[in-house]
Amino acid sequence: MKPSAPPQTYRVKSFGCQMNVYDGERMGELLAERGIVPAPEGEEADLVILNTCHIREKAAEKVYSDIGRLVKAGEEAGRKPLIAVAGCVAQAEGEEIMARAPAVSIVVGPQAYHRLPEMLDRATNGERATDTDMPAIAKFDALPARAKRGPSAFLTVQEGCDKFCTYCVVPYTRGAEISRPFSHLVAEAERLVEAGAKEITLLGQNVNAWAGEDDKGRRAGLGGLIRRLAQIDGLARIRYTTSHPNDMDDDLIAAHGEVAKLMPYLHLPVQSGNDRVLKAMNRQHTAEGYLKLIEKFRAARPDIALSGDFIVGFPGETEAEFADTLSIVDEVRYAACFSFKYSPRPGTPAATMDGQIAAEVMDDRLQRLQQRIAHHQYAFNQASLGKTCTVLVERTGRHPGQWLGKSPWLQSVHFEGDHAIGDLVEVTLAEAGPNSLKGQVHAAAHA
Ligand code: 5AD
Ligand code: SF4
Repeated sequence: MKPSAPPQTYRVKSFGCQMNVYDGERMGELLAERGIVPAPEGEEADLVILNTCHIREKAAEKVYSDIGRLVKAGEEAGRKPLIAVAGCVAQAEGEEIMARAPAVSIVVGPQAYHRLPEMLDRATNGERATDTDMPAIAKFDALPARAKRGPSAFLTVQEGCDKFCTYCVVPYTRGAEISRPFSHLVAEAERLVEAGAKEITLLGQNVNAWAGEDDKGRRAGLGGLIRRLAQIDGLARIRYTTSHPNDMDDDLIAAHGEVAKLMPYLHLPVQSGNDRVLKAMNRQHTAEGYLKLIEKFRAARPDIALSGDFIVGFPGETEAEFADTLSIVDEVRYAACFSFKYSPRPGTPAATMDGQIAAEVMDDRLQRLQQRIAHHQYAFNQASLGKTCTVLVERTGRHPGQWLGKSPWLQSVHFEGDHAIGDLVEVTLAEAGPNSLKGQVHAAAHA
């Protein structure tokens, strides 16, 4: 490749989970240290980072078509953007990307992006740079301080997964479970709050497996970390995602009843309601075990909103087994859910299992499941009518004078009045739709 002028503007396109959003923000902060700024809306950037997701199929194809589009747009504009591929596709298929896509200058995995600035130097010298090492904690140590963000911020506290569910690529792309140290997390949270965050969502592939030592040297779990973060003045709300049922402990459950800043919301994937399928998925819990856990959360925090992830059409799933998934949705009465068709991932045990399910069967099951989920989501919204709660103002709405924010139960709420982004506004939930509610404003709780 020919040497090129150092980039002045960048754009990060993040796909997939919230951890990629967090990583994308941190890559932006690294570039900002070098004076590289986000490209203005509607303008081509000098450096484009595709921050990719590998969790379901077509991920790699999507990356190649995005690269093609960028090259074409560059040719039409008479310029050549630097292209970097980051995230989990980079981790899993880095070498192949370099071989197949000569327009790509940088391939950087999710645990190595703190080295992006050096890689950028090499790329502007005309070299191509690949880094898919996994020195997880080193990455966080090498990142700059958090920059100013909106009122709701992400904070990665834990990365990686040791569970090896048989369908999932995460243990391979993100590596083994690691927890960031307590003091680093408190410091980063304080910095986010100074930069304007009112709400922090703690992130991890298995966030509730987070473990460390608190400031007095005692062993702490996620509940302990949450209790400490709740002491930060100016921080109003704490959330966390995603959890595994087997990593739940009593202290985290109790925190839901004791820590006012911890929002009444729990994302706890179950994937299937059938024990044979759960076993084949290597989830290491039963449907009943999961329901018992939910009961404990409801005992600690009766209004807790629940959400989950589901996979339909796992290899060998029969109609009767799928019906158990519909039943568990009815039993839990989720406030929201994500549901997916099973997607065979190269290198995972399930990809080569017998009994792969036909596409039409998966389509039909997904549609039925989503109908059931939508029913409960609407019912949850309707049951919220008349409740008074605070809403964190996140952005302006489509209509003049309209604002959008989230209720404690993570519902989208729109309302009117004289507010600013970041305000906590007290509303009564007055109208319910399937995906959002209308709030009647009382008074601004604090600015
Ligand atoms: N196919 C379909 N869905 C998957 N998920 C993870 N791997 C796969 C796969 N191979 C879903 C799970 C997980 C969510 C993040 O993505 O439901 O909880
Ligand atoms: Fe994947 Fe299972 Fe780990 Fe979640 S718990 S990241 S689904 S292997």
